[in-house]
Amino acid sequence: MVGSVRARRRRAAELNRLVRRLAQRDPATASHSRRVAAMVELIANALRLPRADVERARIAALLHDVGKMDPRFTPLLGKEGPLTSDEWAVMRTHAAVGAAIVARETRVRDVIALRGVADAVGHHHEWWDGNGYPDGLRGRQIPLESRIIAIADTLDAMTTDRPYQRGISESGAIAGLQALRGTHLDPRLCERVLAPALWESVWATAQMMREEAHGEAGGIGADDAVDSRSLLDDIRDEYERRLRSSGGREAQSELPDAW
Ligand SMILES: [Fe+2]
Ligand SMILES: [Fe+2]
Repeated sequence: MVGSVRARRRRAAELNRLVRRLAQRDPATASHSRRVAAMVELIANALRLPRADVERARIAALLHDVGKMDPRFTPLLGKEGPLTSDEWAVMRTHAAVGAAIVARETRVRDVIALRGVADAVGHHHEWWDGNGYPDGLRGRQIPLESRIIAIADTLDAMTTDRPYQRGISESGAIAGLQALRGTHLDPRLCERVLAPALWESVWATAQMMREEAHGEAGGIGADDAVDSRSLLDDIRDEYERRLRSSGGREAQSELPDAW
């Protein structure tokens, strides 16, 4: 028992160190990862996954782009304007590099509840139709955590302003996800995410965290800082309340292994 508490502490410290290093090296990727993790946690809870699976998905989401910390990606991340095809080929290796970093730098493999985090990180760019990378996995060959991360990751990428592209609106994001069902993204998971109550929670969470990040950049003092954790809890509570009042229609029946 004591050993498992020690293992959890050690694991938490290792993960925190990794996330902090990512935040120092690449703040934009770190705040993207935090938004993706918050959305993934909401979705995994809505699917009624066991707690350990929700936690694994959340941690994998937090670390999904940790491969970009590798120095080979630094010039690409700092580049203004779109990448060339050769640069994209290098960039695409970040998924496998990330899986290797997670496996090497943490001992998550030793903690039963977290086995599979490196795997989920390594496969977050696989496509439902097999056209993704690095391994061209398709359908349910792709770990469930990676399929959930892919939806949140795509959504966040679509809605983020970039120097060469403005983020799109909520209706544009819905249309964008619908257009990718069955090619890039798991179609049933997409439908679940787009069901009204869950969608509202996912969208509100991402927007709130984005505004908060802008606020920090604008120099809001610590005293003014909004407690994001309690706001996220409010959004989750509101989602649960709406779910109960709808008779649980959005979260009913499917057991985790149906995914
Ligand atoms: Fe990625
Ligand atoms: Fe990402």
